[in-house]
Amino acid sequence: MIYLNGDFMPIEEARIPVLDRGFIFGDGVYEVIPVYSRRPFRLAEHLLRLQDSLDGIRLLNPHSNEHWSSLVEQIIARNESEDQYLYLHITRGVAKRDHAFPKGVMPTVFIMSNPLLAPPKELLASGVSAITTDDNRWLRCDIKAISLLPNVLLRQMAVDAGAVETVLLREGFMTEGAASNIFVVKNETLLAPPKNHLMLPGITYDVVLELAAAHKIPNEVRTVSEYEMRTAQELLLTSSTKEIMPITRLDGKPVGDGKPGPMFALLYQLYQNYKVTVMRDAVSIS
Ligand code: PDD
Repeated sequence: MIYLNGDFMPIEEARIPVLDRGFIFGDGVYEVIPVYSRRPFRLAEHLLRLQDSLDGIRLLNPHSNEHWSSLVEQIIARNESEDQYLYLHITRGVAKRDHAFPKGVMPTVFIMSNPLLAPPKELLASGVSAITTDDNRWLRCDIKAISLLPNVLLRQMAVDAGAVETVLLREGFMTEGAASNIFVVKNETLLAPPKNHLMLPGITYDVVLELAAAHKIPNEVRTVSEYEMRTAQELLLTSSTKEIMPITRLDGKPVGDGKPGPMFALLYQLYQNYKVTVMRDAVSIS
């Protein structure tokens, strides 16, 4: 069951006019929210980022956070899986094709749910392969825009190379993955690129840094050079659907000793424990 502009319906029945600006221009923003045991994970943070994305494209938020929470609750209840991932999508609505904003148009609001499957244990045990390439996206990568053509092309490069992710480099510095954030481990220290216009401020990224701080894991938020990335002890990728995964091969070469390392093992365990605690008690980290 999905939600579209005020109604719940089976996805097969959902219809969007071809003049929707999401279809014509990719003029909209989205969120992906994980749900564990029927509870949305970090909902407040996802709704805050949604507001930032809407502000970034100058689109008024069609709903209050209370209304979003209620829609999220209803969509979870109407779908079967205990663990789900929700996709929220807002476009500037339906209007005659013209680049400039239309006046007096209602935004299109769409929410769907899919089962959330944890990354397979074998992949966590072996780690995954990634490739690198130039980050050729625009300069507002902090907006979670539905116009994802660069990300689509960049991630397909990974798939074509038999890899899971493409790690992006801009002017000698690592930005993020095509659909994930990337952490580097150097000298037993967790390195994270700073949140700015060159990367999406990941919700999972924040959780990892909060866990590192709470458990006194040495960490630095600063620009990470290509050299540091290529000589890393460990590389980790994070996202709401993949949680934390070890990258053990980069451009065909082993990362560190080519096996998931101790930083991954520790953060993965902390993340799993944190998830359980949050879902059970709705308490904060510390
Ligand atoms: N993508 N960077 C990019 C470019 C992303 O697309 C994503 C997530 C992330 C990680 O953000 P978060 O931890 O909040 O999921 C970073 C989602 C999952 C997607 O587009 O499906």
